[in-house]
Amino acid sequence: MTEVTPLPRHVAIIMDGNGRWAKKNKIKIALGHRTGVEALRAIIRESSDIGIEALSLYAFSTENWKRDPSEVEALMGLLLEFFTSEIDELDEKNVCIRILGDKDGMPQKQRLALINAEERTKNNTGLKLNIAINYGGRAELVRAARSLAAKAAAGKIKPEDITEKTLSDELYTRGLPDVDLLIRTSGEMRLSNFLLYQCAYAEFLFPTVLWPDFSLEDYHQALEAFAHRDRRYGGRNS
Ligand code: FPP
Repeated sequence: MTEVTPLPRHVAIIMDGNGRWAKKNKIKIALGHRTGVEALRAIIRESSDIGIEALSLYAFSTENWKRDPSEVEALMGLLLEFFTSEIDELDEKNVCIRILGDKDGMPQKQRLALINAEERTKNNTGLKLNIAINYGGRAELVRAARSLAAKAAAGKIKPEDITEKTLSDELYTRGLPDVDLLIRTSGEMRLSNFLLYQCAYAEFLFPTVLWPDFSLEDYHQALEAFAHRDRRYGGRNS
């Protein structure tokens, strides 16, 4: 495949459409999600191979707990399976895993698997793989505001010390570049509370393909489309 430049430093993906894919194929939703995991494995590998710096995937939002208990259970099972079965390969590939979201609100087994994945890969220097689990963008901002308020109340900082940098340092994505490219599959055109602060200048792409069908070719097309975007950050390019 020809090399696409410039590559986005940070790609974020909302992997939407597993349910519709299952319905279309007349199979159970859980199998739709399972096929979705296959798609995400391929995208992680490719991102690592082509040198994407950071990849953020929306796996489970704070709102997803409202789904049918059997679907939540299936997703929890897939998460546990993923973090148990993929960890060796990801570690070998020098991938550094970070969980975005509230791990403490997760069931115990999953919580331990997430902590283990982060611990085991924390010194890896390759792809920064961020998986958003029990994540909400507004909750992330509230958490950051509370932390800064606590520091101010303790006299450690003054209100005027709070800058975009100190605020972003309180986010789960601390130290990562802003999102350059956000892809949401299935044709839905919403951010759904994902990386609200980090997407301030992101380019958005909404391919209509359902997530389990999202192929490496689709990914390369998205990267190609990104490479042709004219990014102005509020300024003017002559
Ligand atoms: C959206 O499809 C997808 C999700 C809510 C979950 C995404 C999760 C995975 C791909 C698997 C688990 C992740 C890991 C890291 C193992 P939807 O069900 O909302 O689709 P629909 O809109 O067609 O119903």
